[in-house]
Amino acid sequence: MSSLTGKRITLIITGSIAAYKAIELIRLLTKAGAEVEGVLTKGGAAFITPLSVEALTGKRVHTEMWDEHSYEMNHIELSRRADLIAIAPATAGIIAKIANGIGDDLASSVLLARNKPILLAPSMNTEMWENAAFRRNLAQAQADGAILVAPQTDTLACGETGIGKMAEPTSIFDAIETHFRSAETLSGKTAIVTSGGTIERIDSVRYISNFSSGKQGNAIALSLAQSGAKVSLVVGNTKEHAPKHPNIEIIPVESAEDMKVAVDAKLPADIFVGCAAVCDFRVSNKSDKKLKKEAGLDLQFEENPDIAKSVGTLRKEERPHLVIGFAAETDELIHHAQKKLVSKGCDLVVANDVSQGAIFGQDQNTVHFVTRESIQTLDTLLKSKVADAIVDWIRERL
Ligand code: C5P
Repeated sequence: MSSLTGKRITLIITGSIAAYKAIELIRLLTKAGAEVEGVLTKGGAAFITPLSVEALTGKRVHTEMWDEHSYEMNHIELSRRADLIAIAPATAGIIAKIANGIGDDLASSVLLARNKPILLAPSMNTEMWENAAFRRNLAQAQADGAILVAPQTDTLACGETGIGKMAEPTSIFDAIETHFRSAETLSGKTAIVTSGGTIERIDSVRYISNFSSGKQGNAIALSLAQSGAKVSLVVGNTKEHAPKHPNIEIIPVESAEDMKVAVDAKLPADIFVGCAAVCDFRVSNKSDKKLKKEAGLDLQFEENPDIAKSVGTLRKEERPHLVIGFAAETDELIHHAQKKLVSKGCDLVVANDVSQGAIFGQDQNTVHFVTRESIQTLDTLLKSKVADAIVDWIRERL
């Protein structure tokens, strides 16, 4: 049975060219056993007709605050009888209203009166997506608990190329399914996730780091948070926007030593996921001033603490129930992963082959789950899906 069987979803369709894809989303949801009720904004109705939404949902579509056929308070009822409110496509306008508590039509009033989780699939031009005011609004909506199904990078309807194309209906469907499958199953649990690369200073203006993007660690933190766990995300050097969720506390750090201090401060925890690319060495003779090239360069190194190992080898009473490490290797991947499993005291090592050098910064990953009992190779998946698979693994064991 699908996790969507019998689930009630209010689907708000706002004014974007991607509105036609909402039709396919309704089809996928109803086929999986969900009951969908449509809300069409004026903008949404400029792109698709109420009749198409009604035909696929089998229910009357809602467009107005006050219904001339009944005394029902649409904006209240549409939230109360739903298990989830999805907004696909979600324009910058509706996200601004969500972030600022504006209810000036039926859709925004449903969102203001909501007592249910919301999921957003934004669709807009790249400049709008990057706009500082929009970034603030999206961050606020996420901080208030909205689940984001991120848009894709492609040629947009306006002819420009960039990020902003709405996620495909299958990806939105997957996110909705994941929400129902995982909702609150880890509530009451605490997790520490390390993410990104560390920065090891050479002098006041230069540093050593690596190409870790932080995408995988951030996705794991978000997936854990969406499952109800309280997550401390200890994040080093990354270009990614940190995931916003009420269950995530973001702790920015610079060096491996800082990361260790931040992790130790958050122990004890139920779950530890070491996804950061921690520099193995730091410069022992770093300078507080800018080094001059005329003086030549003579760097000395000393080893950094191994954070995953320090957590994995804690005494039983202090150790998290589950300790998960990563192994990024260019050769003998499984062999090295198995060695790390033992030496770092992990319960699971997620191994990925970086011999092509292409994993860092990419959206997809092919990983192997290496435990003492088994080796399981997953399909090539979006990093968000790898994160969900890791969280499923955790869920089965807690
Ligand atoms: O030994 P290696 O760096 O390949 O191990 C990778 C795993 O160990 C990752 O989970 C990484 O986050 C963690 N690690 C750590 N502290 C270090 C080095 C690696 O937590 N100093």
